[in-house]
Amino acid sequence: MFAHTVLVAALLPLTLASPLATRNMHVLARRSGPPAGFSVAGAASPDAVLNLRVALTQSNPAGLEDALYDVSTPSSANYGNHLTKEEAAAFVAPTQEATAAVTSWLNNNGVNYTTLTPAGDWLSLTVPVSQANELFGAQFNVYTHETTGQQAVRTMSYAVPQTLAAHLTVVYPTTTKGKAGGKAGGKANSTSSASGVAASCANTVTPACLQSLYGIPTTPATQSSNQLGVSGFIDQFANQADLKTFLTALRPDLSSSTTFSVQTLDGGENSQTAQDAGTEANLDTQYTVGLATGVPTTFISVGEKNQDGDLGGFLDIMNFLLNENDPPAVLTTSYGDNEDAIPVGMADNLCNAVAQLGARGVSVLFASGDGGVSGSQAAQCTDFVPTFPSGCPYLTSVGATTGNSPETAASFSAGGFSNYFGTPSYQATAVSTYLKTLGNTNAGLFNASGRGYPDVSTQGVNFEIVVDGSAGTVDGTSCASPTFASVIALLNDQLVAAGKSTLGFLNPWLYSTAASALTDITSGDNPGCNTNGFPAVTGWDAVTGLGTPNFAKLQAAAGL
Ligand SMILES: *[C@@H]1O[C@H](CO)[C@@H](O)[C@H](O)[C@H]1NC(C)=O
Ligand SMILES: *[C@@H]1O[C@H](CO)[C@@H](O)[C@H](O)[C@H]1NC(C)=O
Ligand SMILES: *[C@@H]1O[C@H](CO)[C@@H](O)[C@H](O)[C@H]1NC(C)=O
Repeated sequence: MFAHTVLVAALLPLTLASPLATRNMHVLARRSGPPAGFSVAGAASPDAVLNLRVALTQSNPAGLEDALYDVSTPSSANYGNHLTKEEAAAFVAPTQEATAAVTSWLNNNGVNYTTLTPAGDWLSLTVPVSQANELFGAQFNVYTHETTGQQAVRTMSYAVPQTLAAHLTVVYPTTTKGKAGGKAGGKANSTSSASGVAASCANTVTPACLQSLYGIPTTPATQSSNQLGVSGFIDQFANQADLKTFLTALRPDLSSSTTFSVQTLDGGENSQTAQDAGTEANLDTQYTVGLATGVPTTFISVGEKNQDGDLGGFLDIMNFLLNENDPPAVLTTSYGDNEDAIPVGMADNLCNAVAQLGARGVSVLFASGDGGVSGSQAAQCTDFVPTFPSGCPYLTSVGATTGNSPETAASFSAGGFSNYFGTPSYQATAVSTYLKTLGNTNAGLFNASGRGYPDVSTQGVNFEIVVDGSAGTVDGTSCASPTFASVIALLNDQLVAAGKSTLGFLNPWLYSTAASALTDITSGDNPGCNTNGFPAVTGWDAVTGLGTPNFAKLQAAAGL
């Protein structure tokens, strides 16, 4: 420990001194110490090869936001007229001047690059550490996670030439932490070998419980073009044999060949070895295939070829979907992190990728996190810790509830207010009403001008799943995001069948036309940071959002 401390102190001056001062560089990011839990093991080998991605300044993110709201707001004349891939990309394409300046800099330095996105706003470079240190005024070191031992090559600061300062926003991975980032949920409880269907929904939640509680239909969807995507990260494999066991026990009305398809990127794998089955991946596939009856479901397995953790995984899955001509109409992701672990430039960029997908008609849903007001996972804190990407206003954040008479907030359901993104207009009234109800409760512990989350919620406690052949139960907002996503996928199926457009970015609809189609949850709270957290109240609240789905009412709100 002592040796590590000395090493950090000794390296800091190296990081911040001569290269930046002498070469007229503009610092893009700098941190004062290694990420929590990491320490420096030493300088990275000069010959080690880094896969870096650089983001060029997007030309018109404000135009993208306007276009997103224009096609997603029910009162707009353009509601449902989703953009094409090219139309959405045009808003974030860098200017010709920016592209020319950056590519000629790379060419002059003998660096090959590839373009990662249809807009051309992300480039990928493969360079040795020695050259990366030179190009970016950096000092790449090896950092070791103190408990897991996992290593990541990172720098405490990086810079670009002054002449490019207006054209480049992010270089990744550089100052962010490595693989220690967490998934939002799936607190695996003991996987007992309980057999058969659960005794009652009060103790064990099954697809049948959710169908009866929310009125979710069991009749199969009919539209093969309407796809549901499920994100998978961190070596979590979704097991088809486990799905079959699950469906046989809990959806005996479905064909036993019902399954999901798999797409892989970044060297993602699809192990079907029983012991490799992931709790999170199985939960997410069992509660999409098992609830969104008949909706073609794809598990998108993101590998770790790009030498980083789930943040890089988010970036890569977003860019992968942006490159597709027909991305799934709904994407559910049960992973997240604390907002303060993500540099603001990267958070902005990822949020704009979500906006592009939304403008193209994709409903992007994320689990809100499992630490109540303390963040992604329960942790010590003083100020409340907002989660990422739930603070991004262009996606739908899903919190958790429990019980059914009445349904009440699950205490782990992460909720609160972003420090990075302001309150969007679609929720301004809901948030200001809630802030008035709160009065002085939690004053000073959260950012009252931030984007409030979650937007909606569903059950999230005691979900029965099958992992490695055994049944067991899990808790988490990881249960809730696939559940709400399945409801939206079934609504989309009916919309497509009726010749209408899919719901796309949901929030402007949820906070207006559909608000009364959700069951308001008015009890419970999400404790943390030595407080009771936020209370669930009448109307929107920062623990259960607008509430839980009522399928029949949502059908009516969707014009079905
Ligand atoms: C750049 O790409 C060319 C063509 O593929 C290759 O010959 C060259 O070695 C590459 N240069 C570097 C620095 O990787
Ligand atoms: C599993 O759940 C039961 C009851 O729901 C609880 O008593 C037990 O502590 C949980 N086990 C773990 C490992 O969380
Ligand atoms: C609070 O949120 C606003 C809106 O996003 C932001 O501008 C401000 O910097 C945040 N304040 C703090 C202390 O993070």
